[in-house]
Amino acid sequence: MSFEKVGFGIIGTGAVAAVHAQAITGSDYAFLAAVYDVVPERAQEFAKKHGTVAVADFDAFLKTPGLEAVTVATPSGFHHDPVVAAAKAGKHILCEKPLDITLDKIDDMIRVADENKVLLAAVFQSRFKKAVAAIRKALDEGRFGKLVSVSAKQLWFRDESYYKSASWRGTWAVDGGGALMNQGSHTVDLLLYLGGEVKKISAHTSNILHKIEVEDSAFAQIDYVCGASGTLEVSTACKPGYPVTIEVTGTAGSAILKADTLARWTFVEERSEDEQIRRECAEGAAHSGGAGAAMDFDCHGHRAHVDNLARAIRNGEKLMLSGRDGRLAVEFIQAVYESSRTGLPVILR
Ligand SMILES: NC(=O)c1ccc[n+]([C@@H]2O[C@H](COP(=O)([O-])OP(=O)(O)OC[C@H]3O[C@@H](n4cnc5c(N)ncnc54)[C@H](O)[C@@H]3O)[C@@H](O)[C@H]2O)c1
Repeated sequence: MSFEKVGFGIIGTGAVAAVHAQAITGSDYAFLAAVYDVVPERAQEFAKKHGTVAVADFDAFLKTPGLEAVTVATPSGFHHDPVVAAAKAGKHILCEKPLDITLDKIDDMIRVADENKVLLAAVFQSRFKKAVAAIRKALDEGRFGKLVSVSAKQLWFRDESYYKSASWRGTWAVDGGGALMNQGSHTVDLLLYLGGEVKKISAHTSNILHKIEVEDSAFAQIDYVCGASGTLEVSTACKPGYPVTIEVTGTAGSAILKADTLARWTFVEERSEDEQIRRECAEGAAHSGGAGAAMDFDCHGHRAHVDNLARAIRNGEKLMLSGRDGRLAVEFIQAVYESSRTGLPVILR
């Protein structure tokens, strides 16, 4: 079947933009039409490397012929303005995580996208992992029985040079927080994807190792709407950094996700496909998934996001993660910060 590729532009040509460029240029559904950065020389150099054009004027960039969608890869607290401008120009949007750092700004982004009838997709590429899809499917089929516990640990490491690599990192004003808002938001999204909506959070955050104003460690006790409970531990102070683990346990089954792999896949009622699932999810990727260094991951998840948005634009495919889905992670994270500040639990629903 022939597919008319969707022209993507990238706004913000820093570290993660290179992953997006690889994802787009290798996609069967998209091509890289142009890039833009507030620092024009950065965009020029990036464009040369990735075989596209840099446009120095933002309005002219949005008018690039063939441009139908933009990837927003600016610092986290600077997502709102480019998203809103792109939506008003009629462009569909793939926005890096977290969607932005306050719920007010995120609500505005969702509202403007709706008003302009463009799609707003949020990046949390871990959702596309084969092992995550297997757990989600087993949950949909009721194979875990009644959920008892959905918990996660993301005990990673970032050195001082990471926090010094750009002035916005590790700041309340633009990073919106530390280990939890930045690195941990991926794992928060997976907890919400697998455990469902959250009713109550009690949390504590601290700064154990780094000279930054925000937390480098966060700990939360979670009560889900479905009746299950769980815990979350996130840090960037744990050298050398360990794989993310997510444990889903119910009255009739249990699964442990360890980075990309399934370290446990056990059900009271074993099915014929289980052995194959264990085999297919036994092999991990060659990279650390970002456990020890910021950009130590590949572009597969981002390509899945690009493909999904392009097919959603052309064929109406459902977005893996809408703006509203992406908002939930920021709501959770803000509740952790509030609970840590006040020493009280936060009731979300
Ligand atoms: N999905 C992931 O795994 C992943 C990984 C890394 C970063 N991220 C997210 O991607 C975003 C960018 O992170 P990064 O590490 O690439 O940052 P970075 O500092 O390396 O790059 C940001 C770029 O945006 C440019 N910029 C700033 N304001 C702009 C504006 N208004 N318009 C256009 N360009 C602007 C800067 O000049 C810079 O080149 C953050 O939100 C971060 O959380 C996601």
